[in-house]
Amino acid sequence: MRMIDLIEKKRNGFELNKAEIEFIIMGYTEEKIPDYQMAAFAMAIFFQDMTQAEKVYLTEAMVDSGDTIDLSKIKGIKIDKHSTGGVGDTTTLVLAPLVASLDIPVAKMSGRGLGHTGGTLDKLESIPGFNVEISNEAFINLVNKNKVAVIGQTGNLTPADKKIYALRDVTATIDSIPLIASSIMSKKIAAGADRIVLDVKTGNGAFMKDLGQAKKLAKAMVSIGNGVGRKTTAIISDMNQPLGCAIGNALEVKEAIDTLKGGGPNDLRELCLTLGSYMIVHSGKTTNLDEARKLLETNLANGKAFDTFKTFLSAQGGDVSVVDDPTKLPTAAFIIDLPSETDGYVSEIIADNIGVSAMMLGAGRITKESEIDLAVGIVLHKKIGDYVKRGEPIVTIHSNTEQISEIKSRIYNAYKIVDEKVSAPTLIYDVFE
Ligand code: URA
Ligand code: CA
Repeated sequence: MRMIDLIEKKRNGFELNKAEIEFIIMGYTEEKIPDYQMAAFAMAIFFQDMTQAEKVYLTEAMVDSGDTIDLSKIKGIKIDKHSTGGVGDTTTLVLAPLVASLDIPVAKMSGRGLGHTGGTLDKLESIPGFNVEISNEAFINLVNKNKVAVIGQTGNLTPADKKIYALRDVTATIDSIPLIASSIMSKKIAAGADRIVLDVKTGNGAFMKDLGQAKKLAKAMVSIGNGVGRKTTAIISDMNQPLGCAIGNALEVKEAIDTLKGGGPNDLRELCLTLGSYMIVHSGKTTNLDEARKLLETNLANGKAFDTFKTFLSAQGGDVSVVDDPTKLPTAAFIIDLPSETDGYVSEIIADNIGVSAMMLGAGRITKESEIDLAVGIVLHKKIGDYVKRGEPIVTIHSNTEQISEIKSRIYNAYKIVDEKVSAPTLIYDVFE
């Protein structure tokens, strides 16, 4: 086989077979195929798309390029949840213990945040002592014992994806649905879960700004998951404003605690109940979504979800007294309210601007090497559809410096306030199974 013939075949719109796709992915991982040929191939995919079979072969070849995590020693059906990334997305912190409180194993491998989207590991590290660097064996034992554990990325998972992603980043081939879908799904499949629930975000704060594109991506990922025997569901949810009210590591932990105790912001609670219901149905505990939701609501109300959160934290070295008394979480030196400049209804909160503001305060990493400040961030008091009076705080900024005039104006620019009544945006747009 010659790479040039395969580039030409794809460029001319023909379907590649399994052996051809394996040849390309293995060859590129082993550096037998140069960047310029892989770049041309990615561009051919960008214009010609991929068939269902090609997407499955590509995903499987990327999984096979590196290590895979073996979760077979965990009893029961393992369900993973993945979000395509948003601002203030606190769902994993709530969902992992909530689902585990129903005796369903949640073996979660999580990452750190980069740019203005936060990472679950960073958030958990707001709890003093919490340790994500545990061995695979300890991880599996903890899931068997407590039904939930979170571990940092281990092993050499999907090296082909890492290489191809870096190449796509500099060749204008990131936003290709088959390439995104296979990239995300290869990582999920390598991480070992039996079933996958995807939260595909759409809106101005999401990777997929357009609903139509988000739907295409969701369909592609579901067909790949189902095509490789990992039953997958995708929910399309709104990211036209940050999720919940808190953006920032310790602030989001506090928000997760409120939600696990049965309170918390409506949108965060609702998204957790929706994603959680699909996770419960995937586990086989019930086939009925309404029943699944009731089980989740019960464990939020009776304290079981919160107790599971505490057990999970203490098993990984976390200081649980902080969770019982969230005022002991890291706190910022300056707590600054931002008053509204006008009366009216909030019609827009550009999530990206809020995320970047939180990052500038120190909550997120600008580069992979940046140190983050766990205490800082932003709490929104007004969301889309809310009425605000002039002088009333729209957000509170938690900062460790008083020099925040640029951040203040960025937040003001993110908020649009109008005279006419505005309704809250739809939270769940669609579900694909
Ligand atoms: N996120 C990924 O993991 N891969 C992509 O290709 C795009 C977004
Ligand atoms: Ca939040």
